[in-house]
Amino acid sequence: MRMVDLIEKKRDGYTLSKEEIEYIITNYTNDTIPDYQISALLMAIFYQDMTDEEITDLTLAIAHSGDVIDLSSLDGIKVDKHSTGGVGDTTTLILAPLVASVGVTVAKMSGRGLGYTGGTLDKLEAIPGFKIELSDEEFIRIVNESKVAVIGQSGNLAPADKKLYALRDVTATVNSIPLIASSIMSKKIAAGADAIVLDVTTGDGAFMKNIDDARRLAKTMTRIGKLANRQTVAVISDMSEPLGEAIGNSLEVVEAIETLQGDGPEDLVEMCYALGSQMVVLAEKAKTMDEARVMLEEALESGKALAKFKEMIQNQGGDSTIVDEPERLLTARYTFELPAKESGIVSKIVANELGIAAMMLGAGRKTKDDAIDHAVGLKLNKKIGDSVKAGESLVTIYSNEEEISTVIELLYKNIEIGESAEKPTLIHDIITE
Ligand code: URA
Ligand code: CA
Repeated sequence: MRMVDLIEKKRDGYTLSKEEIEYIITNYTNDTIPDYQISALLMAIFYQDMTDEEITDLTLAIAHSGDVIDLSSLDGIKVDKHSTGGVGDTTTLILAPLVASVGVTVAKMSGRGLGYTGGTLDKLEAIPGFKIELSDEEFIRIVNESKVAVIGQSGNLAPADKKLYALRDVTATVNSIPLIASSIMSKKIAAGADAIVLDVTTGDGAFMKNIDDARRLAKTMTRIGKLANRQTVAVISDMSEPLGEAIGNSLEVVEAIETLQGDGPEDLVEMCYALGSQMVVLAEKAKTMDEARVMLEEALESGKALAKFKEMIQNQGGDSTIVDEPERLLTARYTFELPAKESGIVSKIVANELGIAAMMLGAGRKTKDDAIDHAVGLKLNKKIGDSVKAGESLVTIYSNEEEISTVIELLYKNIEIGESAEKPTLIHDIITE
């Protein structure tokens, strides 16, 4: 096989075979095919698209380019959850203990944040002592005993995806549905998932800026899930404003604790029930969505889910007393309020720009080697559709620096007050095949 022929084939709109796709991924992973040829192929895929069979073959080839985690020694159906990216998305911190508390096996590998999107690992590391690296034996033992552990991705998980993603980033080929779908699904499959719940976000804070594109991505991923024998459900959710009220690592841990105490922001709670019910049904712990939801509500109200979070922190070496005293996590040197300049109804809060404001405070990374400051971030006191009086605080800013005028300017530019606004619809659609 010659790579140049395969590029030509895709360039001219033909379909690549399983053997051809495996040849490309194997020889790219071992550095035999150079970046410039893969760049040309990526651009050809960007313009010509791929069939479901091609995307499935690509997904499985990427998944098998490195370690494939074997979770077969764990009881039950292992359901993984993944979001295509958001701002202030605290759901994993809540969902892991919540669904584990009703018997779902959660052996989860999470990632770090980059740019304006946060990552679950960074949030967990805001908990003093919490270890995101466990040996394979410890990981399996803890999940067997306690149903839940959340750790960092193994270094050799889907190495082809790491190379491809870095190349896409510099060749203007990130925003391609077959490439995004295979990137996400390959990592879930390599991480050992039997079934997958996807949160496909849409809006300013997301990859997919409109609902039609989000629906196409969701349908592509559920179809390749089926072809790869992993039952997959996608929830299409709104990410035009940040999810919940907190953006920033310690702030989101506090938000997760409050939510597990039954005192969470309405949209975040709803999102957790929507995704959690799908996980419970896929894990065959309930027959219907309604039954699953009642189980989750009961786990939250009884304190069972909160107790599971405490246990998860303890199992992974963290200081679980912060669950009883979450205010101990809020150690930023300064807090500032952002007063509304006029009275009215909050009509716009641009998610990605607020994510950037939190990143500028130190809550996120500009490049992947940046250090982050767990203590800083933003707490929204108003969301879209809320009324506000001039002078009332829109946002509380947690900072370790006194001079934050550029952050303040960015926030004012991206929070609009108008005469009327409806609360955004949180869940646009659920795609099951
Ligand atoms: N998230 C991923 O993991 N990969 C993509 O390509 C896009 C979002
Ligand atoms: Ca949040």
